[in-house]
Amino acid sequence: MDREADKHHAAAAAPHPDAAYLRAVLDNVLDGIISIDEARIVRTFNPAAERIFGYTAGEVIGQNVKMLMPEPYRRRHDRYVGNYLRTGRARIIGIGREVRGRRKCGQEFPMDLAVSEMRVAGKRQFIGIVRDISDRKHAEDELRRLNDELEQRVRDRTAQLHASYQALQQSLADLRRTQDQLVQTEKMAALGELVSGVAHEINTPVGICVTAASWMQLKLEALVERLGDGRLEAEALRPYVSAMQEAAASIMTNLARAADLVKSFKQVAVDQATEDRRRFDLKDYMDMVLVSLRPKFKRTGHRLEMDCPEGLTLVGDPGAISQIITNLVVNSLLHGFEGLEQGRIRLAVSVAHDRVEMRYSDNGRGMSAETLRKIYDPFFTTRRDQGGSGLGMHIVYHLVVRRLNGRIDCESAPGKGTAFTIAFPREARSKEMADDTPA
Ligand SMILES: Nc1ncnc2c1ncn2[C@@H]1O[C@H](COP(=O)(O)OP(=O)(O)O)[C@@H](O)[C@H]1O
Ligand SMILES: [Mg+2]
Repeated sequence: MDREADKHHAAAAAPHPDAAYLRAVLDNVLDGIISIDEARIVRTFNPAAERIFGYTAGEVIGQNVKMLMPEPYRRRHDRYVGNYLRTGRARIIGIGREVRGRRKCGQEFPMDLAVSEMRVAGKRQFIGIVRDISDRKHAEDELRRLNDELEQRVRDRTAQLHASYQALQQSLADLRRTQDQLVQTEKMAALGELVSGVAHEINTPVGICVTAASWMQLKLEALVERLGDGRLEAEALRPYVSAMQEAAASIMTNLARAADLVKSFKQVAVDQATEDRRRFDLKDYMDMVLVSLRPKFKRTGHRLEMDCPEGLTLVGDPGAISQIITNLVVNSLLHGFEGLEQGRIRLAVSVAHDRVEMRYSDNGRGMSAETLRKIYDPFFTTRRDQGGSGLGMHIVYHLVVRRLNGRIDCESAPGKGTAFTIAFPREARSKEMADDTPA
């Protein structure tokens, strides 16, 4: 059917609504409909309003509409309506808003209120349409509560995360400090190695001195005895004198050797403990380092041979070199030669274009690709149970890169031995410069 025709048909079919019809409409709408007069007295109160407020129409009609309001609306209502009647300024009429109602049982509830105005027989009347919005409000409150709760949870979680982050940072700082301390301890241990090397080396010349001195003492005692007898001729004195000369010469050379050793070891020890740059002869220095390592080879079938050009002077930090060599040798003996009888270590030094290249190799057991990949990681060790700190190669790496401003490469495979190639400038630049320059 055509829409225009439909409208027309409907208008024609509907008779003018009579009072009974309007009453039925009022009785059946879902919203409460309440009408009041200028004196605020309730004139009509439909069934939906009865349901909402819990009063029967009979209890409300003829009463001031205030009874349906809680404080403070109740108190203000007369003034408000009076104001409106005088000035025509409305706060609800024709607008509608959310207010609070009061049920017969005293319970307050939120409601939407729309007020309109009409004139009947020249008198102003007001019609209020009321909708109980408790459910909606409740849902809104619930939503708000959930939202708040969610926000609180996010805040809590964020705070927790922040706290764990800080704890993590703290542990990291602690770990770094511990690592620094361990590195320091390792360095001191290397120094300890050196000291025991010194003690061992000095033993030999000092021992010779002691032997020569006691032999001299014996000879002197015999001489004194013969002097007492009063039967000593110049001829008989001669062998004593020459023996004494020999012993004294031996004591002199050996004491000089001991003094030399002490002096050079003192230099190595100072180099290890400080980080000073100075000019030094690489071969002399390495000889000294190897001497300090000699006790480690004692009573083993392992050997170390070095090939280093004479008269090669470097400017840099010799302490770094002795620590690097010491760590590499200790590792070869401990890891590489484990269970082997005759390990060989070769240390070959060459120089080209003002770069020194040290090639260090052992013919030991070598290592797996996995170990090779992690070898410079701090704390990585395959010997944790045997007290490995896993810091040796980490320190070596830093000494090569930071202190010598060089590079280190490692080649190794199981059963194939291990080789390190360390290359660094013959003349180290100052540290600040080295740190500023990208690698
Ligand atoms: N010459 C070598 N031969 C075989 N394995 C080696 C050698 N040098 C180092 N490694 C391996 O590298 C690991 C890390 O060495 P390092 O950092 O000195 O720690 P640590 O000696 O305390 O174990 C060792 O545990 C070992 O597995
Ligand atoms: Mg080690």
